[in-house]
Amino acid sequence: MTSRATIIGTGSCLPRRILSNQELETIVETTDEWITTRTGIKNRRISRSGEETSKLAAGAARQALEMAGLVATDLDQIIVATVTSEMTMPSCACLVQKELGATRAFAYDVNAACSGFVYGLDLAEKYIRAEPDLKILVIGAETMSTRLNWQDRNTCVLFGDGAGACIMTGNNSGRGMLASQLYSDGRLFDLLKINCAVSMNPDLSLADHDGSYIKMAGRDVFKYAVRSMEKAASMVLDKTNLTISDIKLIIPHQANIRILKSLADHLGTPLEKVYINLDKYGNTSAASVPIALDEANREGCLQENDLLLLCCFGGGFTWGAMIFRW
Ligand code: ACO
Repeated sequence: MTSRATIIGTGSCLPRRILSNQELETIVETTDEWITTRTGIKNRRISRSGEETSKLAAGAARQALEMAGLVATDLDQIIVATVTSEMTMPSCACLVQKELGATRAFAYDVNAACSGFVYGLDLAEKYIRAEPDLKILVIGAETMSTRLNWQDRNTCVLFGDGAGACIMTGNNSGRGMLASQLYSDGRLFDLLKINCAVSMNPDLSLADHDGSYIKMAGRDVFKYAVRSMEKAASMVLDKTNLTISDIKLIIPHQANIRILKSLADHLGTPLEKVYINLDKYGNTSAASVPIALDEANREGCLQENDLLLLCCFGGGFTWGAMIFRW
């Protein structure tokens, strides 16, 4: 039997500080009622000094290593999906490598916004298909709080900080990744973006400068997110000759409860099959799928050979889906 890329350990790490909707009411003009009904979010985590993106990433990685029964020097490769590393250079992945002491691994970042972790899994799978013994650490880690305009109620209520990780290696039991499909459409870049402070403002004009904060056309993002994740999910179901009723658990990017309800409707599946933790953490961008995966795994939602569907959508736009036999 051919070897497939299998997840052998998961982990997550969240900042200690909890920011509730009630506390947000004291920061911007908003209400718990508005945030809850429009998004489903109740709380989010906010990092402090010592909880930078690479530190959260390393915390998640340590848990994943422990579950996999590996040590850091067993790792061959480290991929970190992030848009909020504390440094532009070196990569967050190199900082994680240092934190862990993963001296044998080569390390690099992936920027595909909220889809980054799923893109990272796809990359890892390609390496493992070529060399099944490789042990690859894939992390999604973000400190979105550092890129929020805390006076913009349209965005600052939606996001949170955290990290999730998994370790992949080859396995010839028939389990592992069955199919993956990724997409991007750069024509839509302007609908969800974080400007780079200098390059988007070459004349350093204060008047034109709208800051390196997240900007979003919420309604457009909503529509594209539902349609695109549904299309990607249908594509991987077709590729594997499966139907949605074969899937035990769906772990989508956690942006908004209304997006997830609409996605479940479009896929023709009950919401109970969709793993949801956005009420606790808000939208943690590239970290949302791996945090949810780790929680689902530790809660025992996945038994051996269960079929798992991951779907993602994010800035770029980027989106995709993949199916695992757990
Ligand atoms: N508190 C109170 N009122 C608010 C808030 C807030 N935090 N934010 C916006 N409003 C107001 C607006 O100003 C507007 O007021 P107005 O009618 O007086 O102008 C009113 O609420 C309605 O605003 P809309 O933008 O039309 O509200 P909508 O129902 O579309 O919900 C939301 C906004 C939640 C952002 C929604 O569009 C959405 O979920 N979009 C998806 C975007 C998303 O989840 N992005 C995350 C990043 S993308 C990703 O991860 C895939």
